[in-house]
Amino acid sequence: MPAFLIPAPERVKQFADHLEFGARVLDVGTGSGVLAKLAFERGVRDITALDINPAAVEHTRKLLPTATVVHSNLFENVAGVFDTIIFAAPWSEGEIKTPFDHALYDCGVVERFFRDAGPHLAEGGRIWLQYCDAFPRNFQRLQHWIHDNGFVIEASWTLSAWGQLVKRQVNIVLYEIARSSSPVRTADPGA
Ligand SMILES: C[S@@+](CC[C@H](N)C(=O)[O-])C[C@H]1O[C@@H](n2cnc3c(N)ncnc32)[C@H](O)[C@@H]1O
Repeated sequence: MPAFLIPAPERVKQFADHLEFGARVLDVGTGSGVLAKLAFERGVRDITALDINPAAVEHTRKLLPTATVVHSNLFENVAGVFDTIIFAAPWSEGEIKTPFDHALYDCGVVERFFRDAGPHLAEGGRIWLQYCDAFPRNFQRLQHWIHDNGFVIEASWTLSAWGQLVKRQVNIVLYEIARSSSPVRTADPGA
């Protein structure tokens, strides 16, 4: 068994179907490197990926030799600003006992992410967060973590999937998030 999470294909497809990449991309919690690789395949050349799990970092460095891949607890070892920040976040409740468990259990990481993301998001940049309603307490708090830190949800997409840990259907949601001070995107009236 790999020492990092291998993603379910439908979860990756949700990103592939909706994510719009800017020029500078940061993949937070890169895991198998799947979303950093998607950025590369879509033509992005300024890619930074990070993970707290050393096995994920080692793997992604080999997968994408031209990317900057950093062992980091969220933004701790990252400098600079990014047009696109991606976080396929852990969403379950539980105790982290092994490096792999960081892929499963939230344990406050998403709240910290929103507290610390601001200085790393470029003007007009977007955060793409994937989360799930499997654990209602975490899911309800998510709205506060976003809004209380000066961000706003611009769009969201939901898919129904089987929740392995809770053994029932759950909703996996992809959010496109902007700074609440950013102008809301509107269709070009001249188009
Ligand atoms: C749900 S997995 C997603 C992995 C991959 N991006 C994907 O879509 O399959 C969450 C990832 O975030 C990482 N992670 C969790 N907490 C972290 C933290 N504090 N700092 C950096 N990475 C973290 C985990 O190790 C894991 O690789």
